[in-house]
Amino acid sequence: MKYAKIIGTGSSVPETVLSNSDLEKMVETSDEWITSRTGIKERRIADDSTAASDIAYEAAEKALRAAGLSAQQLDVIIVGTVTPDFVFPSTACIIQSRLGAKNAYAFDLMAGCSGFLYSLHVAEGIIKSGGVKKILVIGVDLLSKVTNFEDRSTCILFGDGAGAVILSASDKPGILSSILSSDGNNWGLLYVPAGGSRTPIGEEVLKNKEQYIKMQGNDVFKVAVKSMESATVEAIAKADVSAEDIDLFVPHQANYRIVEAVRRRLDFPQEKVFMNLDKYGNTSAASVPLALDEAIHKGRVREGNIVLFAAFGTGFTWGASVVKL
Ligand code: COA
Repeated sequence: MKYAKIIGTGSSVPETVLSNSDLEKMVETSDEWITSRTGIKERRIADDSTAASDIAYEAAEKALRAAGLSAQQLDVIIVGTVTPDFVFPSTACIIQSRLGAKNAYAFDLMAGCSGFLYSLHVAEGIIKSGGVKKILVIGVDLLSKVTNFEDRSTCILFGDGAGAVILSASDKPGILSSILSSDGNNWGLLYVPAGGSRTPIGEEVLKNKEQYIKMQGNDVFKVAVKSMESATVEAIAKADVSAEDIDLFVPHQANYRIVEAVRRRLDFPQEKVFMNLDKYGNTSAASVPLALDEAIHKGRVREGNIVLFAAFGTGFTWGASVVKL
C-alpha cells in the first residue's frame, strides 16, 4: 500500500464555557477588544479533575467509531500535546490503557500548536515504512492549566480541546504532501518558564507565576503569518495541485487576523476557509483536528475533497499538509 489516508475523525471539548463577558469580570478587557483583535467569543475550560487524556480518550473513541475500527486494531498511538497528564508516562500510554489498544505502541510528540501536523507526518512515515496499517493520531491540549487568568494578554486567547484521526495504509491517495519547519532561536517568545528540568516547581516559581504561559504576542503574530504562508505555498507545490484544487483550508485557529493575513497573501476565497475559533479559541495541538472534525460533520468537506492544513506554534514550529480525504 502506497498511501496513508484519514479514515475517521473525532473530537471532544470540555462542557464549561468561558465567554468574553466572563473574562471582563476577571481582567481589564472587553468583549469588543477580544473580538476585534482575535475573533474569539468564547472558549471551553476543563474542570480541576479533567486531564488531557480524558478528553483525548473521548475524541479517540469517536474517531475509532467513525473509522469502524476496534481499539485492538490500532498499531500505533501518537499524541501531540504540550499539556500531558504527567511529566511521565506519556499521555499516549494512558490513552492506550483506557482504550484497551493492547496491540499498539504509544508515544507523545511535543511541537506546540503544530503538534497534530507533526504527529500526522510522523504517522505517515511509519505507515509508508511498511508493516503498520492503522495509527491513531491525536492533538490535545488543556492550555487553561498553564494559563494565568490574571494576565489579559494571554488568558483571552486559549481554550481546551482534543481532536483525533485514524490514519490507515491505503491504495488510494491520502496525505499528498507535508512541510514541517522549526526555528528554535526565538523559543523565549512563547514558553512556560517553570515545571520542566530547567526550573522545577517550587515556592519561588509559584510566587512569580512562572508555571504559566509567557508570550510576546506581537512578535509571535508576525512570525506566524510569514511561516504559515510559506509552508502552505510549499505544501501546495509539493502536492502537485493548484490553490484552486483546494476544497477547504483548515488552519490553526490562533487568531482570525493571522488566518486572514495568510488567506489574503494566498489569494484564497473566504468561503474556502474553515474557522471555529469564535467558539473554542486557540486549542493548540487540538485546533486543526477539532476544526477538521467539525468541518466534516457540517458537510463542508467529504470523501474525495482536498483539504489544506496549516499550523504554527511554540518552538517555533510550523507546517502545512495537503490531504485528500
Ligand atoms: N484587553 C484589553 N487590552 C489589552 C488586552 C486585553 N485582553 N491585551 C493586551 N491589551 C492592551 C495592551 O496592554 C496594549 O496596551 P498599551 O498600548 O497601552 O500598552 C494594547 O492592548 C495593544 O497590545 P498589543 O499586544 O500590541 O495588541 P495586539 O494588537 O498585538 O494584539 C494579541 C495582541 C495577543 C491578540 C496578538 O498579538 C496576537 O494574537 N498574537 C499572536 C498570539 C498567538 O497566536 N499565540 C499563539 C501562537 S500558536
